[in-house]
Amino acid sequence: MRGCVRNEAGTGTDRVKETGRRLSGGGAPAAPRPRLSEKRTAVGPLERDAIRDWFDRYIRTFTDGGGPDAGPMVLKRDHSLRVCEEIVGIGESLNLDGPQIRFAETIALLHDIGRFEQYAVHRTFADRKSVNHAELGARILDRQNVLAQLDPGTAAEVRRAVACHNMAFLPEDLDSLGRMFCLMLRDADKLDIWKVVTDYYGRTEGPADTTIELDLPDTPGVSEAVVRDLMEKRIVRSDHIRNLNDFKLLQVGWVYDIHFTVTAERLRERGFLEKIRAVLPESPTVEAVFRAVADHLNASHNGPEGWLQG
Ligand SMILES: [Fe+2]
Repeated sequence: MRGCVRNEAGTGTDRVKETGRRLSGGGAPAAPRPRLSEKRTAVGPLERDAIRDWFDRYIRTFTDGGGPDAGPMVLKRDHSLRVCEEIVGIGESLNLDGPQIRFAETIALLHDIGRFEQYAVHRTFADRKSVNHAELGARILDRQNVLAQLDPGTAAEVRRAVACHNMAFLPEDLDSLGRMFCLMLRDADKLDIWKVVTDYYGRTEGPADTTIELDLPDTPGVSEAVVRDLMEKRIVRSDHIRNLNDFKLLQVGWVYDIHFTVTAERLRERGFLEKIRAVLPESPTVEAVFRAVADHLNASHNGPEGWLQG
C-alpha cells in the first residue's frame, strides 16, 4: 500500500498509520479547534491509494517519452509529493486523526493537478499569461471523475480546497473546517516553494530557469510598492511585481500569511529567509524589510493547539 508520501522518505504511509493509531486512541485536545465532521473530511487508506494511483497514471501521460516538457512536469510532480509530506507534518502538529490526515494528503497531492495541462497547452506556469491553474485543476478532477469514490461531502471539500489554494484571500463563505484545511494546504505549499526557490537561488551555475522566475527581468533595485506592502505587514500584491528582486520579496512576504506554529518553526530551521536575503541587493530598504519581517515572526507566538497568533 502506498501513501502519497514517497516511500524513499521512509516515513510516509507508516507514519500516517501510526498517527491514526496514536491519535485516535489518545484523548483529543479541547476546543478551539474547529469541530471536525468525520464525514466531510475523512479519506480512507484505500481511497487515498486509489487517488494516488490515478495521480501517477495521469502524470505519466505528460512525462512518458521524455521530451522538453518532461523536466517542468517532473518538478511539479515532485513538488506535489513534498507538499504531501509538509501537510502531514502540519496535521500531526494539530493532532488530527488518520482519516483527516489522509484528507489533508489528498488535497496536497491534487492541489497543483492543473499545472500539467497548463504547461502542456501554454508552456508556462504563469497564470496571468495562461489560465488559473487552481480552477483548471478542479475542472480536471470533474472531467476525470477522480473524486467519485469519496463521500460526496468529502469530494466537494477536496474540490473546493484545490480551487481555492491560490486565491489571495479565501472565500468568506468557507466554514471553519474548510478554512483550516485550506490554510494547512497553503502553509504546506509555501514551505515547499521556499525550498524550491532557495535551492535554485543557491545554485551558482547553470542557465536561468524561466519556469521558476516566471519570465521576470533580472534588473537592479526593488519596487517601492512591494516594499510598502511588506512594511505595512501584508502580502505583496502580484501586480506590484516588476522584476526578479520583487518576486523574491514577494516570497519573503509570505511570512504574513502563515498560520501554524510548525510552519514558522520549519521556516526558521531551514533558514529560508536568510537564503533569500543573501540573493537580494544590500540596501537600507531591504534591511528594513527584513527587520519588519523578523519582528513579525518574533511577535507571532504559539496560539492554541498549533495555530500562530499575533
Ligand atoms: Fe503548489
